Amino acid sequence: MTHIGIIGGSGLYEIEGLEGATWQEVETPWGAPSDAILTGTLEGVTLSFLPRHGRGHVHSPTDVPYRANIDALKRIGVTDVISVSACGSFREEMAPGHFVVVDQFIDRTVNREKSFFSAGCVAHVSMAHPTCPRLAEYCFEAAEAAGVTVHRGGTYLAMEGPQFSSLAESRMYRESWGADVIGMTNMPEAKLAREAELCYVTVAMVTDYDSWHPDHGAVDITQIVNILQGNAVKARDMLARLPALAGATRAPCPHGCDHALDFALLTAPD
Ligand code: ADE
Repeated sequence: MTHIGIIGGSGLYEIEGLEGATWQEVETPWGAPSDAILTGTLEGVTLSFLPRHGRGHVHSPTDVPYRANIDALKRIGVTDVISVSACGSFREEMAPGHFVVVDQFIDRTVNREKSFFSAGCVAHVSMAHPTCPRLAEYCFEAAEAAGVTVHRGGTYLAMEGPQFSSLAESRMYRESWGADVIGMTNMPEAKLAREAELCYVTVAMVTDYDSWHPDHGAVDITQIVNILQGNAVKARDMLARLPALAGATRAPCPHGCDHALDFALLTAPD
């Protein structure tokens, strides 16, 4: 059965309209997740929501317990993870207020636990196609139906933060590296979701032009919060449309996200 997990970033700390919704504490071998998880049903589909930074925004991008978050979602039965995240834009046409359904990542984070595997149990999953095309299509259609200007595909550069990029970095990511958007949280989340054999996609909500744009000043958090507040209704509308698109009965992932470990484990069994 389909069980949609939503990891909400800055500006998305709760979801309304879930039937029978309850907050549940979930323990994992990796510690506690960012917060309790809210689970309920919408149109007959189970939907769980985890605020990535915790209610009250207490975890910085570096401190988010990424492994516990993904493991907790897996433990409660989530099949498909949608990460809703604020981002800066490197493209004129991806303007503040628009959504981007991300399909590629560049991981520049340096200070995070990035794998469930290590000495004693070694595995190498493919990250060539880090997001699930089926889930991405649902998100694209849901965003369009919610009246959002949404872009299909884009490369998300994950930076460590918490400071924003310098002008030189911003220009390099945009001009030399070909990144489209930038954020601080979707890595290692996407890698861990793949290791957990979960379908994963990022819906990035553009809040600013980072620092490269000659007609826009340096990015500041007040601007980001203003844009996010303006977008909250559309983001919720998009999410509310997902259950009808995904359906309660789930066919196996045609892209193999739910079998990512089939040929990934190297360590011989005891
Ligand atoms: N989140 C929102 N805007 C951002 C930016 N410009 N850089 C990194 N993370 C962001």
